[in-house]
Amino acid sequence: MKLREIRGDEKLPLGIGCLDNLLDGGFDRGVINQVYGQGGTGKTNVAMQLAVSATLSGEKVIYIDTEGFSENRFMQIGGGRKEISDNVNLYRVSDFSDQEVAVIKAERMIEKDARIRVLILDSFTALLRLERDEKNRSVSMQRQLSIINRLCNEFGTTVLIANQIYYDPDLQDIVPYGGYFLDHYSKTILKIEKMPAGTRRMTVVKHRSMMEGKYADFYIVDTGLSCSPP
Ligand SMILES: Nc1ncnc2c1ncn2[C@@H]1O[C@H](COP(=O)(O)OP(=O)(O)OP(=O)(O)O)[C@@H](O)[C@H]1O
Ligand SMILES: [Mg+2]
Repeated sequence: MKLREIRGDEKLPLGIGCLDNLLDGGFDRGVINQVYGQGGTGKTNVAMQLAVSATLSGEKVIYIDTEGFSENRFMQIGGGRKEISDNVNLYRVSDFSDQEVAVIKAERMIEKDARIRVLILDSFTALLRLERDEKNRSVSMQRQLSIINRLCNEFGTTVLIANQIYYDPDLQDIVPYGGYFLDHYSKTILKIEKMPAGTRRMTVVKHRSMMEGKYADFYIVDTGLSCSPP
């Protein structure tokens, strides 16, 4: 095995200085990166910004959307450049079984097209929460994660999943959805919070090569994410 194949520490930058600095250059390639936070904290903005950044360096992206993808917002972040929308394959899914089908489709596409280097699921867990059949919930989640994990390992796909949170009465804290399983598969976990005056804070909760608790503040502006207030 070549060193490059086992290195696994390449980065995909967001193109936003303060957040790339926080992440030592960007999101880790070839692993599942998870961002979680309350509604409106900026998870989708981060996902879109990453998609834009990848396409600007000539890569293709598969974006599985469960939330109602805003083309308007994507145009704002991408500056309306055609090469960006041309290189993002968007799948809208409306239930957890659909999501599994989309993940299987993504697997086939990534196997065939080496330019597809990024897979985004926004969000991974919203539809999981709506799935009534408890057995299918965990079976399908495990199936999807095992496919995604294989894409990371065999093709070096960089995965970003957005995740919701809930209040855990035992821990008396707000925690990301998906439990131990999702936590284990996510090699990077980042929390996003709203701070006063429109500031957002991204905190490293789990990382393979970084201390937990490091954070950076950023803003959501018309053109996407920014390190300075609007
Ligand atoms: N053009 C814009 N200029 C400034 N802020 C914007 C603009 N468009 C959206 N926002 C802000 O982005 C925030 C929503 O962010 P985002 O959709 O990324 O949240 P989220 O974490 O994905 O939420 P959810 O969990 O509901 O999906 C809102 O506070 C909104 O005001
Ligand atoms: Mg969102």
